Amino acid sequence: MRVVEVENLRKVFGDTVAVDGISFGVGRGEIVALLGPNGAGKTTTIKSILNLIVPDSGRIVVAGRDVRPGDYWLYDFISGVLEGNRNIYWRLTVEQNIRFFAGLNGRKISKREIDGILERFGLGEKRKTEARNLSRGMQQKLAIASVLARKTPILILDEPTLGLDVDTTYQLMEIVRSLREDMGRTIIVSSHNMRFVENTADRVIFINRGKIVAEGSVEQLKRMFSYETYMFRASGGNISPQGIFPDGKVERVGDEWRIYVSLNQSEIYDAVDALRSNGFLLKEIRLQEPDLESIYMRVMKEERSDETASGNGNA
Ligand SMILES: Nc1ncnc2c1ncn2[C@@H]1O[C@H](COP(=O)(O)OP(=O)(O)OP(=O)(O)O)[C@@H](O)[C@H]1O
Ligand SMILES: [Mg+2]
Repeated sequence: MRVVEVENLRKVFGDTVAVDGISFGVGRGEIVALLGPNGAGKTTTIKSILNLIVPDSGRIVVAGRDVRPGDYWLYDFISGVLEGNRNIYWRLTVEQNIRFFAGLNGRKISKREIDGILERFGLGEKRKTEARNLSRGMQQKLAIASVLARKTPILILDEPTLGLDVDTTYQLMEIVRSLREDMGRTIIVSSHNMRFVENTADRVIFINRGKIVAEGSVEQLKRMFSYETYMFRASGGNISPQGIFPDGKVERVGDEWRIYVSLNQSEIYDAVDALRSNGFLLKEIRLQEPDLESIYMRVMKEERSDETASGNGNA
């Protein structure tokens, strides 16, 4: 069953088409990630779902019901943390913030539940600290924790990983996964952190210039955009391998080169010949499994070349 439905959403700001006919549905208990470059339209889509801006056209359905401008009923079902961390109250302590947000739906939160949330977010020691005196990353965690305390079945997180350190990003990954697994919550998340998305999302939606350009599970996307990336390990050589593979990624590890290139079967022989004739000693050739980041780069690169092919790219 679909708990969120976005149909042909469109939003224009002045002469910027922020969202240009986006449609997707989100099933109950699903984690859907929105991915795309800066300005792609992710936040605008999210704000439209949260009824914080009024779309120019299109339809948003939450829990089977159409969302109209000014509607409030949807906040029983859905809550969100937008980019940045402005939804917390600076002069309230960590614990007071959580109590406040939990109470928004008229719910009284138990001390035990608060302890659970604080522990999960590693904020236990800071429970009596005012939000304004937390570090930026802690404020972000508090914003997410506060929204969790509202216990809505649907949660929207816009760039929750922004500015978090490696450990905290990892913790958040675990939290997001457990929200789905232990509590059956539905989550829509946008993030530029590919590892985070790869490790949490059931489905990924790539957005570019206000349009969906690819969509699927990480596995499906890997198959859809599977192309052969090879890693050559070589030493020696009388030029930089970058000269042979201008489109490849070249790394120096100790006295070795690691060269990552997309090649088709027949090009492998040319590559090997080129390495040999330039004095390289080939140590290994390995087929690389594409990760989400390389798929993303590939999709966006194809998008760019489509734009060039069709003129100036103004759709
Ligand atoms: N309130 C606004 N007024 C004018 N233009 C806006 C407004 N909000 C967004 N835009 C424009 O709409 C486009 C999409 O912005 P949006 O914030 O949705 O992108 P995004 O995908 O969230 O990007 P990012 O990854 O940088 O967060 C951008 O060109 C942006 O400048
Ligand atoms: Mg955004």
